[in-house]
Amino acid sequence: MQIQENISLLPHNTFRMDVRARYWAEYGSTDELRDLLQRFADIPKLFIGQGSNLLFTKDYDGIILHSSMARARAVNETRDEVYIEAQSGLVLDQLIEQLCDMNLYGLENLSHIPGETGAAAVQNVGAYGTEAKDAISEVQALDTTTLQPCTLTHADCHFGYRDSVFKHEAAGRYVITSVTFRLSKQAVCHLDYGNLREALPANPTPTDIRNAVIRIRQSKLPEVSQTGSAGSFFKNPVVAQETADTLLSKHPAMPYYKQTDGIKIPAAWLIEQAGCKRLTAGDAGVYEHQPLVIVNRGNATPDNVMRLAQMIQERVEEQFGISLQREVIYI
Ligand code: EPU
Repeated sequence: MQIQENISLLPHNTFRMDVRARYWAEYGSTDELRDLLQRFADIPKLFIGQGSNLLFTKDYDGIILHSSMARARAVNETRDEVYIEAQSGLVLDQLIEQLCDMNLYGLENLSHIPGETGAAAVQNVGAYGTEAKDAISEVQALDTTTLQPCTLTHADCHFGYRDSVFKHEAAGRYVITSVTFRLSKQAVCHLDYGNLREALPANPTPTDIRNAVIRIRQSKLPEVSQTGSAGSFFKNPVVAQETADTLLSKHPAMPYYKQTDGIKIPAAWLIEQAGCKRLTAGDAGVYEHQPLVIVNRGNATPDNVMRLAQMIQERVEEQFGISLQREVIYI
């Protein structure tokens, strides 16, 4: 276990906000986690992975906890499937690379998404037609009320679009220690999103799909190792059919996707049409290849990012009557 005091969070958030935390702790086992919860019972706590989906809005006056448990192992195998339990601190993309090398299908569309396995379940990360929930079988956690390990079934997790029970009813109650994924030995591919299929040979392997997804992502999204960002800043709004019809009568070229719960409109399109592509606030700017992403062009402050996000929300609201919801979490 490692505990540090008054540390810079600059290396711990992909937006590269230069703020500080009162304490930072790494835990390498459930016992160490339990110890930390007892020792720091009275101060605010925040669990993070790579800090790739959050914006630190100011210094954090509490303890930030990070799992350094990063192993994966097969826990069950049937004729068609393999169940892999991956610990919370394992970098998601490293896990996906290993699964692709094993020729297992299920997570390859999520290649190159920044972040770690535990956070991927909290956020139900998604890309190119699949979401983490599609492959999650169950989640192992430490219950902070009893300090006992427990298992949450897929149904217990209440997964939704970039959403789960861990962001709502159970926020603060469970600390995810590992996630069990159900992977397929047979080709079960999701290639219908955008131009993914065109980029692939017939009968693609998981590695073919992974490589194509990485190429597409690199052409649209900033590399967090080079440019500070937290991926999509807003969620794509889902509106009622009537709202979409009204908008389509005014904007016949508006792209839209039918969902079970309504009509999904690309926030990127709304932001571009609302004239926000060149908006800046200090060093915070809209990413030129994908306006859904806010980038830190150098020394953006949390205030710059929040101001820019608010300007975008106001312009989209004014022009389309749609209130964009943040995907990025403000801390
Ligand atoms: N578009 C524009 N202008 C642009 C760029 C895009 O109008 O400059 C419109 C186009 O109509 C395009 C549509 O936006 O067809 C969708 O764009 P894209 O396929 O790039 O995906 P997205 O909806 O912007 C979502 C996820 C991404 C994920 C991609 C691919 C959300 C909030 N974002 O973006 O996830 O990688 O689909 O599946 O759902 C993330 O969550 O951080 C993230 C990057």
